[in-house]
Amino acid sequence: MIIAIDGSTASGKGTLAKRIAAAYGLPHLDTGLLYRAVGLAMLESGEDPENQAAAAAVAARLEFRDLDRRELRSAQAGAAASVVAAHPEVRRALIDRQRSFARQPGGAVLDGRDIGTVIAPDADIKFWIDASVEVRANRRRRELLARGEEVSSARMIEDLIARDERDRSRADAPARAAPDAVRLDTSDLDPEQVFQAARLAVETKLFLMHAGTPDPRGAS
Ligand code: DC
Repeated sequence: MIIAIDGSTASGKGTLAKRIAAAYGLPHLDTGLLYRAVGLAMLESGEDPENQAAAAAVAARLEFRDLDRRELRSAQAGAAASVVAAHPEVRRALIDRQRSFARQPGGAVLDGRDIGTVIAPDADIKFWIDASVEVRANRRRRELLARGEEVSSARMIEDLIARDERDRSRADAPARAAPDAVRLDTSDLDPEQVFQAARLAVETKLFLMHAGTPDPRGAS
């Protein structure tokens, strides 16, 4: 079973993806970390993340095992990630490995922005997770504070709006919900409520798959 979990920055999609993966015993890939790793490597080598050719070369060399560095979660890495993620050559360099991860025997959970539309359009179930910009800014501020990084609320909201705009308006694989995605707004929900809502959707899909009934949403 392939589960695609896309959504906006700090919407809660990462937390949900981890919980769903654990509940169904599936491997999980946070694809945002790939773009963060490319963005951070560019910053560390003194390159401008706008440089597409250099960023694509970094992406081609990227090893998935390099994805657990703590620095990847920083605000700086996130901002650079959004810039390198807009380069078509960077996306191309990362696509095959994400697709192989999705198609491994038994399936997988992937979270990102284009999983349901580009990486695994054939996913068994797709989610689009969102929340108001104020709620997302608060969540991201708390995460950064826990890491010792302090960002004002106004600055965080501004950053998120700029990031959302860049992610949604890029020509290649813009961040958007697949037409057959289940949409969840997490503004007024805690992580447990989000998990329960998503689990219900997965269970319904599994039931329909086993019963051989076509999904009324149109997904295969
Ligand atoms: O989810 P995140 O904040 O870790 O993502 C970092 C950036 O990477 C974000 O600006 C959008 C981009 N991204 C993407 O373009 N495609 C993905 N599948 C995942 C993330």
